[in-house]
Amino acid sequence: MTTTGEGPRVLLGVGGGIAAYKVCELLRRLTESGHRVRVIPTRDALRFVGEPTWAALSGEPVTTEVWSDVAQVPHVRLGQGADLVFVAPATADLLAKAAHGIADDLLTNTLLTARCPVVFAPAMHTEMWEHPATQANVATLRSRGSVVIEPAVGRLTGSDSGKGRLPDPDALFEAARRVLTRGGRHDERDLTGRHVVVSAGGTREPLDPVRFIGNRSSGLQGYALARTALARGAQVTLVAANVALPDPAGADVVPTGSAREMRDAVLKAAADADAVVMAAAVADFRPADYEDVKIKKTAGVEPAPIRLVENPDILAEVVQESRMPGARRQVVVGFAAETHDVLEHGRQKLARKGCDLLVVNEVGERLTFGAPDNAAVILSADGAAVEVPRGTKEALADVVWDLVATRLP
Ligand code: CTP
Repeated sequence: MTTTGEGPRVLLGVGGGIAAYKVCELLRRLTESGHRVRVIPTRDALRFVGEPTWAALSGEPVTTEVWSDVAQVPHVRLGQGADLVFVAPATADLLAKAAHGIADDLLTNTLLTARCPVVFAPAMHTEMWEHPATQANVATLRSRGSVVIEPAVGRLTGSDSGKGRLPDPDALFEAARRVLTRGGRHDERDLTGRHVVVSAGGTREPLDPVRFIGNRSSGLQGYALARTALARGAQVTLVAANVALPDPAGADVVPTGSAREMRDAVLKAAADADAVVMAAAVADFRPADYEDVKIKKTAGVEPAPIRLVENPDILAEVVQESRMPGARRQVVVGFAAETHDVLEHGRQKLARKGCDLLVVNEVGERLTFGAPDNAAVILSADGAAVEVPRGTKEALADVVWDLVATRLP
């Protein structure tokens, strides 16, 4: 429920973890962009960041207990009136309480009364995150429609590092915004419980330790697909090749370099996936020979031609695997970047690759690569064509997921 004339109402639940300090920045980003934020810390959260900080940054009162302001019944009213509940850092304890419906403070009571989207951004040590108890709680929360963001990998509280970091405030802000801005459909998390694999970026095929054959793909469309899928509740594996973009909060990002590396990563992740979207620009060929040392020029000697050999066709392999007898039914989506005769080439490519959907767009030096917007025609194996007018790459991504969602078993 959005109060007329005012920004969306966000309840920012803060758990008792050291990463609470990063949430101050998230709070700032939310309030500065017009969201009305009420912070509900747990008692232990206040050991890390005090009540005055939350109150000053949000401009709203801050309480941890249900016993303050009782006449207003805050534990019911706050949850009912929110457009989004965002919990960061979500500790192992908080996830457990939320999964089991334990309500022993204002935040956990609010989680039971909220009917809006709920996002948890967990942060804890790797062992705690990987513990079967935590994983079962995360699975329970996801099955009920909550978005649980995958923790980032990196330096943890001490000198150790691993999976368990709270993603950076920018990524958290982006995740919150995505869930909130799915128009009137923001409560529709239709990919909940689904695992989707998205490839993004452009492969590089090495010639020697310093040179490669590459392409101009920025990864923006693939990253938009990952973010939108996350906002719709999916578990996302993002296989990225040579992308200089921040990791979308919650995605399991697998960095790769060449087409062959990408193939291995995609096929591995696709084994238990419900949908695979190949948005990456994969090099069709690679140099036949790789020189271990830098190739030198010799005065007066003509350079040797570069011999090329064909790379595996990842999309075709994913389609082949998914059509094997007994294989899990998957929706497979390809992208086609064409410079001319776009539709004709698109239809031929759809037939050749055998995928369910093919997103065809026209590319050129000034079109699509690195640009924030895109236009496309999405062809489907049953002969249908959906035209997506020029708009943001996220808008196109949402149409792709709409079409995927209707084809999921
Ligand atoms: N693709 C792939 N593996 C390759 C080449 C392409 O998985 N070795 C995927 C891309 O990720 C994309 C789709 O196939 O989803 C189409 O890519 P594109 O390069 O347009 O198709 P090609 O088959 O290479 O056709 P062509 O280069 O002849 O246009």
